[in-house]
Amino acid sequence: MFFNRKKKTIVLYYSQSMGNTKKIAERIADKKSYDIEAIETIKKYTGSYDDIMAQGKEEVESGFRPEIKPFTHDILSYDKIIIGSPTWWYTIAPAVSTFLDNYNLSNKIVVPFVTYGGYEGHSLADLQEGCKTTKIVNPKSIQFDAENLNQMVISEKELDFWIQSL
Ligand SMILES: Cc1cc2nc3c(=O)[nH]c(=O)nc-3n(C[C@H](O)[C@H](O)[C@H](O)COP(=O)(O)O)c2cc1C
Repeated sequence: MFFNRKKKTIVLYYSQSMGNTKKIAERIADKKSYDIEAIETIKKYTGSYDDIMAQGKEEVESGFRPEIKPFTHDILSYDKIIIGSPTWWYTIAPAVSTFLDNYNLSNKIVVPFVTYGGYEGHSLADLQEGCKTTKIVNPKSIQFDAENLNQMVISEKELDFWIQSL
């Protein structure tokens, strides 16, 4: 019956440098059998890590919105959206801002999460705000090591406990 229909959930993520956000997104999708898709920019970021840090700073400060590729899934057909962004200069990555500008999530249940390497700033708060829905559940910021950039700081147990609740 329609009213008892199981909620349709998709995991969306943007992951640029270390694949950290991708790894978390895939773990959620795998453990919960949810659909998953990446937010991808049409124009790839190139250059060294420092080059991308500098470009990212400029983009965040100027409010630049890179164009993103169309999705293969019909995003707005889902009831619940789990969305992950890396922290870029204390906020969310510009590609995620493009997504939030282009898709109206105001009637969706949203689980926002961010990954970061030492100082998350206001990234999780910005992601929550950008989703423009009152139905935010279980937001989470996931710290990675500032030196060893792809080493998660929280335990796998803590991560899986959160994933169980999604
Ligand atoms: C352009 C850029 C800006 C970043 N800014 C921050 C920051 O402000 N605070 C922080 O803790 N980590 C920052 N980082 C580190 C990333 O948030 C962290 O490594 C994240 O887990 C990367 O996710 P990804 O591998 O999915 O791209 C930045 C990384 C990049 C590339």
